[in-house]
Amino acid sequence: MAVFRRLLGFLRPYRGAVALSALLAALATAATVSIPWLTGRAVDAVQDGARSELTTIALAVAGAGVLRLVLTVARRLVAGRVSLSVQVDLRERLHTHLLGLELAFFDGQQTGQLMSRATVDLQSVRFFLGYGLVFILQAALTIALAAVAMVIIQPGLAAIALAPVPFVVWASFRYGRQARPALQEVQQRIGELTADVEENVSGVRVVKAFAREARQYGRFERSVGRVFGQSMISTRLRAFYDPFLGFLPQLGLAAVLLVGGRQYVNGSLTLGDFTTFYTLLLMLIGPMRSLGTTLGLAQRATASGARVFELLDRAPGMVAPVTPRALPEGGGGRIELRDVTLHYDGASLPALRGLDLDVAPGTTLALVGATGSGKTSLVSLLSRLYEPQEGAVLLDGVDVREVDPTALRGEIAVVDDSPFLFSATVAQNIAYARPDATREEVEAAARRAQADGFVRELPEGYDTRVGERGLTLSGGQRQRLAIARALVTDPRVLILDDATSSVDASTEQAIKAALREVMEGRTTVVIAHRLSTIALADEIAVLEGGRIAARGDHAALLAASPLYREIVETELAGREEVAA
Ligand SMILES: Nc1ncnc2c1ncn2[C@@H]1O[C@H](COP(=O)(O)OP(=O)(O)OP(=O)(O)O)[C@@H](O)[C@H]1O
Ligand SMILES: [Mg+2]
Repeated sequence: MAVFRRLLGFLRPYRGAVALSALLAALATAATVSIPWLTGRAVDAVQDGARSELTTIALAVAGAGVLRLVLTVARRLVAGRVSLSVQVDLRERLHTHLLGLELAFFDGQQTGQLMSRATVDLQSVRFFLGYGLVFILQAALTIALAAVAMVIIQPGLAAIALAPVPFVVWASFRYGRQARPALQEVQQRIGELTADVEENVSGVRVVKAFAREARQYGRFERSVGRVFGQSMISTRLRAFYDPFLGFLPQLGLAAVLLVGGRQYVNGSLTLGDFTTFYTLLLMLIGPMRSLGTTLGLAQRATASGARVFELLDRAPGMVAPVTPRALPEGGGGRIELRDVTLHYDGASLPALRGLDLDVAPGTTLALVGATGSGKTSLVSLLSRLYEPQEGAVLLDGVDVREVDPTALRGEIAVVDDSPFLFSATVAQNIAYARPDATREEVEAAARRAQADGFVRELPEGYDTRVGERGLTLSGGQRQRLAIARALVTDPRVLILDDATSSVDASTEQAIKAALREVMEGRTTVVIAHRLSTIALADEIAVLEGGRIAARGDHAALLAASPLYREIVETELAGREEVAA
């Protein structure tokens, strides 16, 4: 019920339009109800042989028909607009909210589930708010007006004719109650199905490479089956209730034909009034039958609304400071981590444990360490993508929590280990962080990242559209575009996560040269696996189990750190193997 009230709240900005559409619905209903009454008058006129009256009535019926037509078209236009506007509002709210949530939230989410909430669930909310509500209103009004007309003509007969109405209402609500859990489940299953489809599509390379189409298809089939099974439960309910709801007023019709027919024979009812009665009843069958379905729509919208609100109510775990501090102008990008502990949600061990690190402005630090030692975790703290449980991270002496995240991230450019490219042109991808960059700036960044050469060979050069996740490009090409994207912003701090691991030796050399140039004047943290990359750094830090195990230059570390020696020897052994 609370969910339902909250859904209605989304109509508040459109109060005027909602009231107008209710008014139009009421007038259209009045026109509809007038037709059976006019029919009754026509029958009386026929019996009395009153020709001129018949003409008037016929014109009135046609007039009522036209009025109803015009009113209904207008009502639909108004209601349709409201319903789409509500959908736009909900979409924007949901999307803004999602993008405002911290990265850690997305780690625990299935993309498909989020997508289904943003599409299927919003759709069902919109349907109900736009059409369902007006429909219920119209059905209720039709019943009420027909009842008034009947009571005016013959209260006794009206009581007989309307006797089934309470049962219809009762059965409709019962249907709604029974259908709710089933419909809630349907929405949930659709969410799972969407998640399945999403994984199949984004994981298509793995699926194909291991020829596991059959398994994926099997999984998918089971999801489809579950949606089918759940939908069948609600379909079965509807299969019974819909016709049943239509059947009840027919009982009333039978009673009216019997009792009203006798009254006519006795002379206590005119043939016209008798006709009005049963025409009204025939007219009621439709709205009564759909009352159940519409209440079902309401239940479905409530179930969907609950799923959407669940997301909207998830408060952002990371908030921007109310009065942000500015980073000092012209700061060289000094990085300090003080006693930092990072423990991911649901992980058994902390990824970083009491870590201290100080990187002097304008210098380059290479981070080395075994896989899982916390290298990526460390650098993601700098741009506050994650928040440490303990300790502080400072950029140029300012705690990153006190800086506006947008300003902070404008000063730190990240090239991560699996760069994501948007489905846009190469130039747009490079200029992503600075859409106002000129074509010259874009090309200059590409040249410095050694990307210009291959970009020019693409069918449309910088205007070539690359696919989602840049699937049309190779791993090394994607990395070079990501480097170009980082360079376009001219950041204080540059972070390269494994940035050169998937390029060939000559490109690597070229990128090295470029990096040496771009590292000038800014602090760079490079997560390195190769000696050639390590060689670019002023200093090297060795990470082990979430801590800095050793720090120094190459020669010092070779002497002092067994772990570093091991890393170097493994790399050298690898080279000798290749050479042999
Ligand atoms: N988003 C996350 N949620 C939960 N745990 C995570 C997350 N990211 C990393 N971890 C865990 O934290 C630890 C450190 O991971 P991290 O990615 O920092 O390692 P890494 O040194 O970058 O390794 P690699 O060299 O393989 O990239 C690992 O045990 C990893 O499983
Ligand atoms: Mg990593």
